[in-house]
Amino acid sequence: MKEILQQIKEVVVEGFKACDYDEKYGMVSLSNRPDLCQFQCNGAMAAAKEYKKAPIAIANEVVEKLAGNAMFSKCEACPPGFININLSDEFIASFVSGMADDTERFGVDKVASPKKIMIDYGGPNVAKPLHVGHLRSAIIGESIKRTARFMGDEVIGDVHLGDWGLQMGLIITELKLRKPELVYFDENYDGEYPTEAPFTISELEEIYPCASGKSKEDEAYKEAAMTATYELQHGRKGYQALLSHILNVSVSDLKRNYEKLDVTFDLWKGESDAQPYIPDMVQKMKDDGFAYISEGALVVDVKEDTDTKEVPPCMILKSDGASLYNTTDLATMVWRMKDYNPDSIVYVVDKRQELYFTQVFRCAKKTGIVPESTNLYFVGFGTMNGKDGKPFKTRQGGVMRLEYLLSEVEEKMLEKIKENGTMNDEDADNTAKIVGLSAVKYGDLSNQASKDYIFDIDRFTSSEGNTGPYILYTIVRCKSILAKAGVSTSDGAILPAHSESERGLQLELTKFMAALNSAYEDMAPHKICAYIYDLANAFNKFYHDTKILAEEDEAVKASYLKLLCLTKDVLEKAIDLLGFKAPERM
Ligand code: ARG
Repeated sequence: MKEILQQIKEVVVEGFKACDYDEKYGMVSLSNRPDLCQFQCNGAMAAAKEYKKAPIAIANEVVEKLAGNAMFSKCEACPPGFININLSDEFIASFVSGMADDTERFGVDKVASPKKIMIDYGGPNVAKPLHVGHLRSAIIGESIKRTARFMGDEVIGDVHLGDWGLQMGLIITELKLRKPELVYFDENYDGEYPTEAPFTISELEEIYPCASGKSKEDEAYKEAAMTATYELQHGRKGYQALLSHILNVSVSDLKRNYEKLDVTFDLWKGESDAQPYIPDMVQKMKDDGFAYISEGALVVDVKEDTDTKEVPPCMILKSDGASLYNTTDLATMVWRMKDYNPDSIVYVVDKRQELYFTQVFRCAKKTGIVPESTNLYFVGFGTMNGKDGKPFKTRQGGVMRLEYLLSEVEEKMLEKIKENGTMNDEDADNTAKIVGLSAVKYGDLSNQASKDYIFDIDRFTSSEGNTGPYILYTIVRCKSILAKAGVSTSDGAILPAHSESERGLQLELTKFMAALNSAYEDMAPHKICAYIYDLANAFNKFYHDTKILAEEDEAVKASYLKLLCLTKDVLEKAIDLLGFKAPERM
């Protein structure tokens, strides 16, 4: 369906044209004085300059041409030259009826030319527990992915594991110290390696911080870890066998965690998958004259004349020939282009890596790894802070693990559900999980991604205010009324509004398309949140003002129920795009 603003604009443009004014003056926007009107056109003010007339005279002429149009209940010129517009209730009702009849998409058209998009999100580091720093990438990336998919794009999500660094050497070194008898350390061993990993995930998670701690205090230990990393990266068989164990154990644990978050990836590629592409890539950069040696390191210049801040060269190889985070990201682009040839690649990463990605993107374009036609986007997100305004920590001051955070939120929800006391234990547990996830995800997504925000468990789990549970509460309310009425979907049309609050709800529903389109175009899930919060408020106002089930006029009652159904469906579609679900009861 055509967006409502677009439909209004087309009519207003005709009005301007009929008076021989340029159509560019027919722009319409939502009113910034909802008390006066629903929509407004300010074009007469701008046109006044070009046509050397009083704005109000122009506005009056245009309004005269628009008079009698069935789309409007009001279209009037107001000094100094505004055109204030209200839609007729009939027009609004037929628009929302059209949305309701489109039971899959509620009027939202797919994009005219779908694109192939790769999203790099999650970015967990193998063998290190998933912590809240990775939470934002997963939550935001998942929502961007679902939204683009709904709009018709082909989207490929890649987790881009951090599986290629010193952390591997550290684990190997510590393991060697603890279990030197393992065959992986015997350089002369040339049999098959065991299929069973020599550690569990809990051991692995204890080994890494232990090794990392030791390496900070013990030079020789650090040296050993670096050597192990080097040997691993240069093909030492026993170490590579250990790497696959580390990967297997970690990845199954990660999958379990992401499942709890309802986040899924199409690809489980990692930094290590990019390594085979490095030698040829580096050679080509040298051959093409882009890469040169500076202070021993191999670099590519990426500064541009218009830079206001210094953008240092992109380092490709360190002076000892070792590759870096940059090298891996560039080589990852090599296989992404070769295997998938996407129209764009989107990186959902902590905003502190912005300069780094500026360098990498410029280098990729300059050296031709990524063609001009492929867009590279950086979606940088801010830090999740605790109530003290500092990065979120456990009560003991340690890094908060994602699982603990989730269970803390679930417990809080469970307490609240038990207070209401109407559910058996099993239902209460399940509901707490569903609602808890909404609290965490909505709490995150309702903020503009680039901003820092405060993780406030009491506020996020509250069923009042701009929260996930409030949205779910509204959906559950719709479901329960529909169940009482014995309808799930209803036939017939939505009638013109019978009250101010019903008009408000219908009008809010008309804005769904615009909200989704702009969330999609700007890769901004917070715009979906802002929309559904307004919609939920409009619905609850209507609900408090209206006797729905007791309505005696059957046609009016049916229309209410259909409106309710549409509200529920739009809210459920929206939260699905945000990455969570609603329970049946709360
Ligand atoms: N593993 C990285 C980290 O924990 C994030 C990876 C982001 N993606 C990328 N292509 N560099 O910081």
